[in-house]
Amino acid sequence: MDITRLARGLSVESMEIGLNWSLRVAWIAGIFPLLVASLPSSRLNPLYELLLGFSKRGKIMQSSSYLSVPQRFFLHFYLLGVAWTTVLLLTTWYYASQVAPLGSESLSLSTAAGHLTGLSHISSLYKSRIHTADKRYKVWVSVFLLLLMEMQVLRRLYETLYVFKYSNSARMHIFGYLMGIFYYTAAPLSLCTSFVLVALNFTLDKLAVLKLAYQGVPSMEFDWWGYLRPLANLGWHQWAGAALFAWGWVHQWRCHAILGSLRKCREQSDEYVIPRGDWFEIVSSPHYLAEIVVYLGLLVASGGTDFTIWLLLGFVVANLAFAAAETHRWYLHKFEDYPSNRRVIFPFVY
Ligand SMILES: NC(=O)c1ccc[n+]([C@@H]2O[C@H](COP(=O)([O-])OP(=O)(O)OC[C@H]3O[C@@H](n4cnc5c(N)ncnc54)[C@H](OP(=O)(O)O)[C@@H]3O)[C@@H](O)[C@H]2O)c1
Repeated sequence: MDITRLARGLSVESMEIGLNWSLRVAWIAGIFPLLVASLPSSRLNPLYELLLGFSKRGKIMQSSSYLSVPQRFFLHFYLLGVAWTTVLLLTTWYYASQVAPLGSESLSLSTAAGHLTGLSHISSLYKSRIHTADKRYKVWVSVFLLLLMEMQVLRRLYETLYVFKYSNSARMHIFGYLMGIFYYTAAPLSLCTSFVLVALNFTLDKLAVLKLAYQGVPSMEFDWWGYLRPLANLGWHQWAGAALFAWGWVHQWRCHAILGSLRKCREQSDEYVIPRGDWFEIVSSPHYLAEIVVYLGLLVASGGTDFTIWLLLGFVVANLAFAAAETHRWYLHKFEDYPSNRRVIFPFVY
């Protein structure tokens, strides 16, 4: 049984490497066309128009082509984002608390089932695979990043339901919709690729043993402090990243509240005004800028050593800068009195 588990563990590790590289290829495949299309060459216009057609939504999308879906389907992204991030967070957190003690602490859960030989045996097997302090630390960093991501997707779900007033006629291209579904699957995964499969495997093993032992739902006493204490022991990178994340998070919240307040109801969907206040005073798409700050915060909190998270940030910047350029053009065309000091997305630069 041990040899089977060990072999499964090894194949899980090679699958994790495959998953990591697949995500990297996917992010590069997303970034590259956006970068090329943004080069100032008229020969690239067809590519630019094609990508623009895919990314248009709401006010920027004039006609409702048959390849479009309602813009309120944005809700699906955040339902998926919340469900998927929660699964990844709980699994990784459970795995970390069982097999990745930080420092001299013993982080084993005081569960009623914790003393079963089968359970502690599984923990020792998995512990032997993350024997270095560096690896144990990285598991907890992934838990921390997923916690931040959870805060982001929960707020976006709330805003989609209660803050934005997507009109019934607002549409988005089906490609943009599929891209959003892919994005909210791949982005949380990119924050924990090195441990996600082994953590899922570990949790399934534990559940199987628990099921055999109890033939029902076991009663568990959770040591909440045991789950939280290792997070308090993380380094300055994580807290600096969290501060940056919080700065972007709060400004995106404020900017979304401003956008949501511009319309009294969905029926006023053809009415557009110049948004004012907060970061709107300096750029046309401050909510996109704030999103970039949020992901920059995640990168800093990760320690900056994971290339997949760099690529995730690269995609967010390329995608939102591309959309912001079109939004800025739309404002200049729509409002003669549009403030001339407002840049596209990066204050004083672009
Ligand atoms: N991570 C990523 O790659 C990614 C990708 C896409 C979006 N996002 C995030 O999702 C959030 C929402 O994005 P979005 O593209 O849906 O934002 P948006 O196009 O600016 O729209 C947000 C809402 O505000 C309304 N609105 C915008 N400007 C208005 C104005 N001047 N007057 C009246 N109403 C106005 C829109 O109406 P209309 O629908 O009529 O325009 C829509 O209902 C952003 O913060 C963004 O960062 C992230």
